[in-house]
Amino acid sequence: MKILVFIFTGFILIGCTAVTPAIKSEENWSEISYESHIKKLVKYNCIGCHRGAYAKAELNLSTYSSVKLATQEGSLLNRINDLEHPMPIRGLMSSNERKQFLHWAKNGCPLSPHSVKSKD
Ligand code: HEC
Repeated sequence: MKILVFIFTGFILIGCTAVTPAIKSEENWSEISYESHIKKLVKYNCIGCHRGAYAKAELNLSTYSSVKLATQEGSLLNRINDLEHPMPIRGLMSSNERKQFLHWAKNGCPLSPHSVKSKD
């Protein structure tokens, strides 16, 4: 049984690392934009439940403006870090993935890499 759990966990880990590239160096945190990072994370972790007319909690996360709104004015950042009521429901995303949302918010939720303001 332990072996099965081990194999299963392995598959989950492999599955996750394959779809969402982790940001490796601290310098790159400022380059996070919706198009380059956030859209993928939302697609793999949230869209299944938060899309269209039957979106859970009536929260549709299928567009840039809706994800931005939920991040800046809604509870998105709280819920993706909420151990008791995590989003996604199956459990928190990796800390690296959650950091991507946080830094995106800190940067003012830029749409594309081109709209990210340079530091100088
Ligand atoms: C398996 C389905 C499912 C997935 C996947 C999922 N959610 Fe949810 N979400 C729900 C349900 C059901 C609710 C309403 C109940 C609740 O608040 O716990 C909800 C509520 C929320 C709320 C609160 C909305 C409000 O107005 O109170 C936020 C924010 C949220 N989800 C964000 C996300 C984000 C971001 C992701 C992906 C990282 C995600 N969810 C993935 C099902 C899901």
